[in-house]
Amino acid sequence: MISNLDHHLDEAARAVGSIDDLDALRALGVELLGKTSVVTEARRALGGLDPDQRKDVGQRLNEVRNELERLVSERRTTLEAVARSVTLEAERLDLTELDGNKRLGHRHVVTQTWERLEDLFVGMGYTVAEGPEIEDEWHNFGALNFPLGHPARDMYDTLYVDHGVPGSTLLRTHTSPVQIRVMEDGEPPFYSIMPGRVFRSDTADSTHMPVFHQIEGLVVDRGITFGDLAGTLEAFTRAYFGHDFTSRLRPSYFPFTEPSAEFDIQRPDGTWLELGGCGMVHPSVLSAGGVDPEEWSGFAFGFGLDRLALMRHGIDDLRELFRNDLRFLGQF
Ligand code: PHE
Repeated sequence: MISNLDHHLDEAARAVGSIDDLDALRALGVELLGKTSVVTEARRALGGLDPDQRKDVGQRLNEVRNELERLVSERRTTLEAVARSVTLEAERLDLTELDGNKRLGHRHVVTQTWERLEDLFVGMGYTVAEGPEIEDEWHNFGALNFPLGHPARDMYDTLYVDHGVPGSTLLRTHTSPVQIRVMEDGEPPFYSIMPGRVFRSDTADSTHMPVFHQIEGLVVDRGITFGDLAGTLEAFTRAYFGHDFTSRLRPSYFPFTEPSAEFDIQRPDGTWLELGGCGMVHPSVLSAGGVDPEEWSGFAFGFGLDRLALMRHGIDDLRELFRNDLRFLGQF
């Protein structure tokens, strides 16, 4: 009986090895281990054996049964792995061939503008800094020489965040708070630009968005003058827009610069476009940043990055930049 079982095991091993689909394996498993299988019949027959034989045969029977189970389950694992890789191969998507042409994505036109500005200023020796979009009242206003309750705070339609003391936390309305952070974090001289996202509670129209981008510039060194500011902005204008563009400064007011100016550029057709504000850093702002105004002076500027992108590409509606219509964005 034992030799019968061994013979059965050999045959079963061969049968299992030759199966190559899961349904057939399931059927073979029932045949080898189910109610009418050789091992089940042999177990029934055990009762008719004498006790000595019963012990030996019983032991071998258990071994054979375990071995059959192992063979079937091992084969199942192998066949399942094969089935999985066949499915994966069949469902593979070739993303390089979408639409039948090899079209790669590209950076958003605002990101392109942002990176170009960084390249340009880094080329002029500036470093790039960033600050938080959720700011405290001190960095966005107080340190920039807007006293509490000062009407100039109403220049910005500020979005406050429900955090801490009411009015203490806000979405930054401009990138100027990063000037303070740059001064707090280092020692002069500073030659930094600070691009970033800013927020105002404005209704979207062709020239305004509640979320937009600015690029701030800060230079603090010994003996910096208004002439350095004008020269830097003129150099920037020509480098960014081309040699047929020029710039001018018009008197203006910001609490954090004194004197302050608006920065306009003139296009080849002679028309002027306002790009942003600038001025000499107010002594109180230097002090708030931990810089001694007796020893250091500086200038700052800030302008709308989205507006530069519009200008450069002759787009006439700011909202188009953020509608995410690929037919539109794909042009730039
Ligand atoms: N922060 C000002 C604004 O958003 C722009 C500005 C920056 C003006 C730096 C002067 C100096 O309107």
